[in-house]
Amino acid sequence: MIYPIVKFSDPVLETKAAPVTEFDDTLKRFVEDMFESMYAAHGVGLAAPQIGISRRIAVIDVTFKEDPKAKLVLVNPEIIHTEGRHAQSEGCLSIPEFRESVTRPRKVTVRAQNVKGEFFEHTGEELLARAFCHETDHLDGKLYISHISALKRDLMKRKIRKLIKAGEW
Ligand code: NI
Repeated sequence: MIYPIVKFSDPVLETKAAPVTEFDDTLKRFVEDMFESMYAAHGVGLAAPQIGISRRIAVIDVTFKEDPKAKLVLVNPEIIHTEGRHAQSEGCLSIPEFRESVTRPRKVTVRAQNVKGEFFEHTGEELLARAFCHETDHLDGKLYISHISALKRDLMKRKIRKLIKAGEW
């Protein structure tokens, strides 16, 4: 099932998501739906709040279907180590058509559970490191625009308000 993507300024995107405690078939199906919804929206990462479900679940595939082994499910993820800094243009499915340069760690280690509830650690660099940060932020109710200057953020919000008013958001 493909869920529609929730857009900024829906409050669910700025709400801290609840931890997952049940690792059952419902979760497995939901994760499959998340991948399907992410691919349908042409994204490389998706957090559950972006489809209106305030739970600590994110899916990532920085290869966008090219390498099935690159598909990552992060349940209750936590960033446990970061290294370096790296600035790059970043976007979000919930803030379509906008991009801004965001500085993130170059290398990030995440600790998370898989769909079975088993803990694992994964280290990523560059785009994957960025995805770990971006998606974990989502689960804390934080959007990438919180990492840009207030001036740029206000400008973006003003443009979005105009789009909302025009019925184009
Ligand atoms: Ni996002």
